[in-house]
Amino acid sequence: MNDRLVALAAAAQRELETAVAPEAVEQLRVKYLGKKGELAAILGGMGKLPPDERRALGEKANAVKAELETKISAAITRVQELALEQELKGPRLDVTLPGRGHALGRRHPVSQTLEDICGVFSRLGFVVEHGPEIELDWYNFEALNVPADHPARDMQDTFYVDGGSLHAGFAHTNPVVLRTHTSPVQIRTMLAQKPPVRAVMPGRVYRKDSDQTHTPMFHQVEGLLVDQKVTFAELKGTLDAFAKAFFGAKSKTRFRPSFFPFTEPSAEVDVSCVFCGGKGCRVCKQTGWIEVLGSGMVHPNVFRHAGYDPAEVTGFAFGMGVERLAMLRYGIDDLRTMFENDYRFVAQF
Ligand code: DAH
Repeated sequence: MNDRLVALAAAAQRELETAVAPEAVEQLRVKYLGKKGELAAILGGMGKLPPDERRALGEKANAVKAELETKISAAITRVQELALEQELKGPRLDVTLPGRGHALGRRHPVSQTLEDICGVFSRLGFVVEHGPEIELDWYNFEALNVPADHPARDMQDTFYVDGGSLHAGFAHTNPVVLRTHTSPVQIRTMLAQKPPVRAVMPGRVYRKDSDQTHTPMFHQVEGLLVDQKVTFAELKGTLDAFAKAFFGAKSKTRFRPSFFPFTEPSAEVDVSCVFCGGKGCRVCKQTGWIEVLGSGMVHPNVFRHAGYDPAEVTGFAFGMGVERLAMLRYGIDDLRTMFENDYRFVAQF
């Protein structure tokens, strides 16, 4: 039996050396060490031996088994490396196949419009400022002259952040909201620097609204100019220049009295209809005008909250909806298509 063990070890060794595929090594493992393998067969005959011979043989068998296990795992490593080497060496690549084209990405119409708006204002000397989308009630409303019980709050269906009530240097707890407009960035910008200020503030805003012309998230660009003796005429000139740069040199603007708590006086700004040139059509409801933004002279209370002295400085502010401008510019009729992430939509712009 001892001879059979020695012969088995030698045979296994020889066969393992010539194996080149992982499956072949596995077959050898089963053949020699498996439950019905050759080693098991030898051990099966051991019962008939006298006890001390049986012990000696058992020890020998265990040694052979351990040796085979080591050799098998070495063989596995060897054939795996071999397989990898062959894979690396011989690329199964057919260079005669026609290439697969890569679709070029495109910038979303909202991103393009946002960039264009900021581009126009940067040529007018405005810098770009940013503020947080998760905002304290104080910046979003109170500092902008919208106190807690003010009816103007009804215009904005606010998302409140659950349990979010930060002290953040305030004497009273302050509710945390998703900002409903970019106007709070006016306050943050003024608190962070001395006048003069000339900034545009782009970003995402949130309102609890959803239909063909409203999405719960949309984009605005805010504008703020503060200096000594800034006049309404400069507001008009600036926004008229913007309209001509953005919609075309023939565009006209019209200012209508309006109300915002953070400006006084306030104005709604219309641009001559981009579809009919002002003659009157379905889009402008035959008026020749399309409303594009809100604006006004910064309210003295806003300056006070931002640490500026309203006796020293004056300024103007404005805010516009980016999707709205993009829809006018590209003739898109459903706001929601902007956020469906359909490449066929995006690829048109
Ligand atoms: N924050 C206003 C809104 O979201 C837009 C606005 C109006 C901004 C007048 C201004 C402004 O800065 O002066 O409806």
